[in-house]
Amino acid sequence: MSGTNAGVVVVGGGQAGFSVVQALRGAGYEGPVTVFADEPRLPYQRPPLSKKAHTEPEGPGVDLVPESFYRERDIDLRLGEYVAALDTAACAVTTGSGERVPYEHLVLATGARNRPLPVPGAELAGVHALRSLDDALTIGRALTTARDVVVVGGGFIGLELAQVAQAGGARVTVVELADRLLSRAVSPQLEEHLRERHERDGIRILTGTAIEQIEGKDGQVHQVVTGQGPLPADLVVYGIGATPRDELAREAGLAVDDGVIVDEQLRSVSDPRVFAVGDCARHPHPHADGLIRLESVQNAIDQGALVGRRIAGGAAGPYESLPWFWSDQGPVKLQIAGLRASTDEVRVVPGDSDTPERLAVYAFRDERLVAVETLNWPAEHLAARRLLQQNPPVSPADLAGSTLGALARARRRKEVRA
Ligand code: APR
Repeated sequence: MSGTNAGVVVVGGGQAGFSVVQALRGAGYEGPVTVFADEPRLPYQRPPLSKKAHTEPEGPGVDLVPESFYRERDIDLRLGEYVAALDTAACAVTTGSGERVPYEHLVLATGARNRPLPVPGAELAGVHALRSLDDALTIGRALTTARDVVVVGGGFIGLELAQVAQAGGARVTVVELADRLLSRAVSPQLEEHLRERHERDGIRILTGTAIEQIEGKDGQVHQVVTGQGPLPADLVVYGIGATPRDELAREAGLAVDDGVIVDEQLRSVSDPRVFAVGDCARHPHPHADGLIRLESVQNAIDQGALVGRRIAGGAAGPYESLPWFWSDQGPVKLQIAGLRASTDEVRVVPGDSDTPERLAVYAFRDERLVAVETLNWPAEHLAARRLLQQNPPVSPADLAGSTLGALARARRRKEVRA
């Protein structure tokens, strides 16, 4: 069934799904809009969950918008309901309780799930992963009494939580399997500075180290056995990466390969009535060689907004937003603009004596700036976001002895004079 009034069904009540419906109504879409959110609470922001300890029983107040937002815009927000199956031939989804809901356009915004920790003992009490608000409350409460915390995974979640635990007074060890921290996301040059900063704060970091098993006493975690010996632990938190929730699409026969494969309009390459946005989408991007999948708030917001506007009949360019990202790790603000993959030249600019905590790493490919990583330097990050989207591209020569902030100011002065 594909009647013109079947409307839009969005599967997923995270940042990307929210962005779709906000843009749909914002662009004047008047058809029915239904959002299926499997968590039984209003859509909320995830970034704050790993950046401080959350202990309030009612949650940390991270809702994206109040309930009235949905009511006033006639958005049917179906909390605590999940979509169990997708029938693309009939243009309908089936919910967990067996209800069939037709759609004219379907948007998959199903996000990602944490990779499980593949070692014996991962099921013990006191071993937690972080994704949902409930997870954050469980970890926050455990942190109020934890003395020895082992963080498995030196990625974004692990390093943010390590600083939270350290600030709460626990002894913290980060165990990372790869030979450096954040190897998926940042340059070795930045990693070196970041590691040094965390170690200076007293966080112990073991890279190139595997977890062999987690041992308990009376069902509660007691120690973590690693390739470098046992570590005492009364709390283990792990963040070892995420995988896209793409099984609905796969079971419906849509093209999937570590994410729902979409075109530059974010439409499934198998079905023009189905879009995918956010963590679950694998898409082309003008700055990437092949298809990419991005796990970031920026990507969720921008992709959701584009699809919402497109369905509403508004602007319909390809998806080409500049990727950017941030991670607050205690005293360190790490920011990334652009895509670093396959760069051929890297330049490191340290802060000066007044700003020793700052660092910028410029990454070039074929003589053009493609990505900028910064530590504690928000102005340089903002300049990077501007300049990475401008023509002419920034060359290594443009940045000889200059920062991006200075270059942006010089270019603006030139524009004013011209
Ligand atoms: N033991 C130890 N470390 C491991 C293991 C393991 N068995 N397996 C993987 N790792 C390491 C990886 O080498 C990597 O450094 O875990 C880290 C995972 O880091 P991320 O990929 O950044 O994933 P995570 O920190 O879990 O973040 C998940 O949250 O902030 C968002 O964008 C982020 O979407 C991502 C999500």
